[in-house]
Amino acid sequence: MSPSLRTQVGIVGAGPAGLMLGQLLHLYGIDSVILEKRSRQYVVERVRAGVLEQGTVDLMHEVGVGERLAREGLRHDGIYLAFGGTRHRIDMAELTGGRAITIYGQNEVVHDLIEARLTTGRPLHFDVDDVSVHDLDSRSPSIRFRKDGVEHEIACDVIAGCDGFHGITRAAIPAARLRLYERTYPYGWLGILAEAPPSSDELVYSLHDSGFALFSMRSPQVTRLYLQCAPDEDVSRWSDDRIWAELRTRLATDDGWRPNEGPIFQKGVTGMRSFVVEPMRFERLFLAGDAAHIVPPTGAKGLNLAMADVYRLATALAEFYRSGREHLMDVYSERALQRTWRAQHFSWWMTSMLHRSDSDNAFDHRRQLAELEYLVSSRAAMTSLAESYTGTPFDA
Ligand code: APR
Ligand code: PHB
Repeated sequence: MSPSLRTQVGIVGAGPAGLMLGQLLHLYGIDSVILEKRSRQYVVERVRAGVLEQGTVDLMHEVGVGERLAREGLRHDGIYLAFGGTRHRIDMAELTGGRAITIYGQNEVVHDLIEARLTTGRPLHFDVDDVSVHDLDSRSPSIRFRKDGVEHEIACDVIAGCDGFHGITRAAIPAARLRLYERTYPYGWLGILAEAPPSSDELVYSLHDSGFALFSMRSPQVTRLYLQCAPDEDVSRWSDDRIWAELRTRLATDDGWRPNEGPIFQKGVTGMRSFVVEPMRFERLFLAGDAAHIVPPTGAKGLNLAMADVYRLATALAEFYRSGREHLMDVYSERALQRTWRAQHFSWWMTSMLHRSDSDNAFDHRRQLAELEYLVSSRAAMTSLAESYTGTPFDA
């Protein structure tokens, strides 16, 4: 790398948002540089969610990275809601005219996008330090960073902040220009991966007196499971035996169904938060993905929202470079926020319906059950859930 560089779009962060944006821009013939503070191995091995909406699956195919997804992704037409000892299936495909979801780990998405980026020969730098953004309100904003002890500066036309919730780009916007909306939840998820063939073909979201549990999967050999826990839960207090006992208690249903068990090879705790920043743009800096919004994982929307953002952003930048028109850049934030707030509501709703909180009383528990009873008995209510869960097509 030379100490002084130029590109069209400087992208901070090589998560799904930054990498997909880079791939879309490449296909439009637009230059970009992607800067990532972590190592390639860290980014690829980081375990995250794994539910892809049809829009995300279609986008992966459109940008030429769908081959392994088509082979290894698991298409699910429905999900189960379990409560009171019974599993109820919601046939999402039947209710939505054929829309479904695909199970494919976010880390696999990231793996495939990195491979694609390397094939293009366009720059993607891991392990960069001290990334900072400058002159955001000028026509030539820049990014400074250090790589292997050497300082660099890249002059850009536009900067894309794809650096997640804890990144530096959102923080570089003057506070007076932003509005923040936030809710934290009094619980977290303890997630595990186990070498055990999934005992159900579809996900099971369960509400039990002891709290929420979720049955998911990664492959025909690997089950992914989550338990509601304290937000700051100490994983070391959870032996494998304790985890399985709690999962059996919360998931097993009266028809004899229960998750298959096997060696646990990954454990982690995630906090739960809803967060939105408005607007998702400051002058020549555009925010996308977790840098702009966080949803609790119950609705499985995080990755899909990030993909919808960068699809919209790439289209706006393509218009800018093709014609000089800034119209789509100007409406980017407003339109991306529409989709974001819809997903915020859905994720909050799924979360509050399915978790037990210390501040809830017996009334709240009965109310939750009444809502679930209605949901699984009304076609209108099931259709509403299915529509939001499978997601609407990405529009730009
Ligand atoms: N400089 C460079 N890179 C940074 C910096 C920085 N200062 N700070 C953070 N990053 C990197 C992170 O290491 C990470 O790889 O930015 C990337 C952001 O990626 P994600 O957190 O995965 O966010 P995003 O691409 O928006 O994807 C959203 O991720 O958290 C999940 O549920 C969420 O599925 C959703 C998806
Ligand atoms: C997952 O498989 O990791 C997963 C599935 C559904 C969710 C969240 C996470 O709602």
